[in-house]
Amino acid sequence: MITDFDSVLTGFVHEGQPMRVVFGAGRIADVASEVDRLGSTRVLIVAGGPEATFADRIAKDLGHRVVGRFSDVVMHVPVEVATAAARAATDSNADLVLCVGGGSSTGAAKAIALGTGLPILAVPTTYAGSEMTAIWGLTQDGVKNVGRDERVRPKVVIYDPELTLTLPVDISAASGMNAMAHLVEGLYAPGASPITALVAQEGIRALATALPAVVADPADRDARSLALYGAWLAGWTLGTAGMGIHHKICHVVGGNYDLPHAGVHSAVLPYAMAYNAVHAANELHRAQLALQAAGIDAPDPATGMWQLERSIGAPTNLADIGLSQTDIPQAAAAVVAAGMVNPRPVDQQAIEQLLVDAWHGVPPRPLEGTV
Ligand SMILES: NC(=O)c1ccc[n+]([C@@H]2O[C@H](COP(=O)([O-])OP(=O)(O)OC[C@H]3O[C@@H](n4cnc5c(N)ncnc54)[C@H](O)[C@@H]3O)[C@@H](O)[C@H]2O)c1
Repeated sequence: MITDFDSVLTGFVHEGQPMRVVFGAGRIADVASEVDRLGSTRVLIVAGGPEATFADRIAKDLGHRVVGRFSDVVMHVPVEVATAAARAATDSNADLVLCVGGGSSTGAAKAIALGTGLPILAVPTTYAGSEMTAIWGLTQDGVKNVGRDERVRPKVVIYDPELTLTLPVDISAASGMNAMAHLVEGLYAPGASPITALVAQEGIRALATALPAVVADPADRDARSLALYGAWLAGWTLGTAGMGIHHKICHVVGGNYDLPHAGVHSAVLPYAMAYNAVHAANELHRAQLALQAAGIDAPDPATGMWQLERSIGAPTNLADIGLSQTDIPQAAAAVVAAGMVNPRPVDQQAIEQLLVDAWHGVPPRPLEGTV
């Protein structure tokens, strides 16, 4: 029987992305052979924070091929960081950028690629998903600018779940919800297709299954693998289908007010789903099926996502993330001014109400048709 569920068949454009993905526990050992495969002999390693210890191990394997290290990575990539990173690449005459770490390390590598055209090999250690996209972000004078450029899309991505065992529980939960947001918006984003819909649904199932297990036992290797698999699908979905109101809100609110990226995604997601509940009902039904497959039974997908977040201790309100309530009208105006394609038209008053609800963390109200 053909149902509304198949409405995506009314028309789509699917564009495949040429990327190589290597996945599995212990695959960090493959970095050197992947560097060779890319024909690189001069590698600049970008890694900051605790992830730098993984980079140390990789540097040992690469030996004399490492010509420099850049470790001053900062979330949302301030332009000063981008400039310093690009200088490190040119000063060392690197022919490849190897980033190890979360979205902040990947972001610094992308800033280098944007300026120099150097290829990227990415070894992600969070669930952010940036490694699968051609999207870059730079922050200047308190404003985050985001754009697309194929030069910043990594050529090779190595996913080793062993590298995520040290990711603290709270960051795992928030980062997992960051990935979840890519999957949810991929269901109705401008580039959605039957393939992205299938991938997004499977990714939501994987993450909704894995994250409670990761939170219960961060050393659970099977759960870590399943979560990283979901994060890969999430990054792919974001990079292929695009995004909508949720990501626009998170870029504006997170970037302009310098708030933790993953936490903002977590706090906003159920309310963005509620905002689009009526206008993307068929698409979001897939999210509900995926949550059900993970054992989450809720009256609607927005509420199901909210329940998942509460169960894993992921952020559920913007107040705790650090947004001041008095900034909400200005933030809503910036979101509207940024413009975007979204199932439900975007208007200032409705976005302001969405942010007020997300700020308080009240239960999402999708069935009212407005938030
Ligand atoms: N361009 C894109 O497509 C895209 C997509 C998603 C996110 N992003 C960007 O990525 C950034 C956020 O990425 P993030 O959430 O991964 O943050 P992050 O890279 O800053 O990592 C969060 C924290 O976790 C720590 N960490 C990372 N891996 C660890 C590990 N294995 N063990 C212990 N600690 C570890 C980091 O040191 C940091 O303190 C933002 O700037 C966001 O805009 C971009």
